[in-house]
Amino acid sequence: MANFEKNYLKFDLGKDYAIQGKESVSESDKDMILSCADKLRNYPEMNKWIELPLEYSDSEIQDIIDTAMVIKEKSELFIVIGIGGSFLGSKAIMDAVLNEKPNSPEIRFAGYNLENSQVLKLLKEIEGKETTICVISKSGTTFETSLAFKMLKAAMEEKYDENELEDRIYVITEKNENPNKINPLEKYKNILYMPKNIGGRYSVMTVVGLLPLAVAGIDIKEMIRGAKEIATEFKKYEEANNPDLYYYAFKRFQLENDGKNLEIYEYYNSELQFFSEWCKQLFGESQGKNEKGIFPSMLQMPRDLHSMGQFLQEGSQFFFETIISTKEDKCDLVLKGEQYEVLEGKSLKEIEQSIKDGVIKAHLDRDIDILEIEIPTLDEYNISRLMYFMMMNCALGGILMDVNPFDQNGVENYKIEVKKNLGL
Ligand code: PA5
Repeated sequence: MANFEKNYLKFDLGKDYAIQGKESVSESDKDMILSCADKLRNYPEMNKWIELPLEYSDSEIQDIIDTAMVIKEKSELFIVIGIGGSFLGSKAIMDAVLNEKPNSPEIRFAGYNLENSQVLKLLKEIEGKETTICVISKSGTTFETSLAFKMLKAAMEEKYDENELEDRIYVITEKNENPNKINPLEKYKNILYMPKNIGGRYSVMTVVGLLPLAVAGIDIKEMIRGAKEIATEFKKYEEANNPDLYYYAFKRFQLENDGKNLEIYEYYNSELQFFSEWCKQLFGESQGKNEKGIFPSMLQMPRDLHSMGQFLQEGSQFFFETIISTKEDKCDLVLKGEQYEVLEGKSLKEIEQSIKDGVIKAHLDRDIDILEIEIPTLDEYNISRLMYFMMMNCALGGILMDVNPFDQNGVENYKIEVKKNLGL
C-alpha cells in the first residue's frame, strides 16, 4: 500500500480503529462534533437503533433464528417484499457475505421495482417451488410493496389452501393502528413487529434485516456481536471526549462546505454493489433536505475506470471519492505460469491493490479528496461494524448540517402525484 500524504484519509475499521492522514481538529470543532454526538443520543425520536445492538438479549436473537428455521424447513424459495430501508440492508449483507450456498432456500427480493419480466419470473417460480413470502413495510402503506404483495399472494392462493397459506406468509411492520395498512397486514398469523423509533434505513439490525438474513444462512449472532462491539467503542470514545469515530462525518461536512456536493462510493469488489446502494439511500435520504446534502453516487472499479475514469481525471471537479475496501478477500487467486511474465506469482488482490494505488495517486495529483474505509474482510462481524459506523456518521453528519437525519418528507410529493394518476 502506497503512502499518500495530501487529501487522502484512510479509516481502518479493523480491531484497532485508526485513521491515516487525519489532520488535527481544533478544540472548537472537537466540541462541535461532541455536542452533535450528545444531540444524536438525546434526539427526541427515531434514534433507538443506536442502543439496539447493546440491548439485544440472546433469547431475542434466538427467537429470530428459530423463526428462520421454521421458514427454511418448508421453503425452497423465500421472497422478501419491500422497498428502500425495508430491503436494502438485508440485500447488501447477503450479497457481501454469502459466498457459498448454504442449506437455505433461494432468496428473491420483490416490491422495489414493478417490472413485468421480474414479476412474471417470480410468479412462475412460485408455481414450481415451495414458497414462503415475507412482506416488510414499517408504515404498512407503501404502494409498490402493497402491489407486489397482492400479486405474489394471489399466486400463493392459487397454490396453497387457506391453512397452508397462513403458514407461508410473514409480515414485518410497526405496531400501530393505521387503517390504511396493506390488506390490512395485522390480520396475518405470522406477524413480527419492528421496534418503534427506528426508521427504515436504520433498521438493518432489527427483525427487518435479521429475519431474511437468518433465512439466507447469515450468522446473525456474529452480526450483532460486531454491531455491539462498535456501539461500545462509540460510547467509550465519546466518554473520553474523543471525536475520532465521527471523523468521517466531520470530513464530509468540511468537504460539503468547500463545495464538494457529490460523493462517489467506489468499490473493487462487486459483492459490495448493494452495500453502496444501501449507503446511497442512507446518506441521500438522511441528509438531502433543506437545500443541503451531498449527492451519493457509486462506481465499480476497475470496470468504471473505462467509462468514468476520464471524467474523474479531467471533468468538472465538484466531487470527492470514498473507497469501500477490504484488506483481505475470502479467497485469493495467485497467477502461476510464464505467460504472466512480471506478474507471475502475484495474487489478484495484490494486482487490485496496485490498480487502486495507481488510481488514488492519479486522482490525488489532481487534488481530488479521497477517503477510504477499510474493513479486514467481508464477513458478518465486519460488515455490521461497517454499517453501524456508517449509520452513526450519517446521523451525526445530518446534525452537523442542521437537518433532521431521520425524516423524509420530500418522498411524499411523488406519492401524491402517483395516487392522483392511478385514482388511488
Ligand atoms: O428509510 C426509510 O424510511 C424509507 O426508505 C422506507 O424504508 C421506505 O420508504 C419503505 O417504507 P415502508 O417500510 O414503510 O414500506
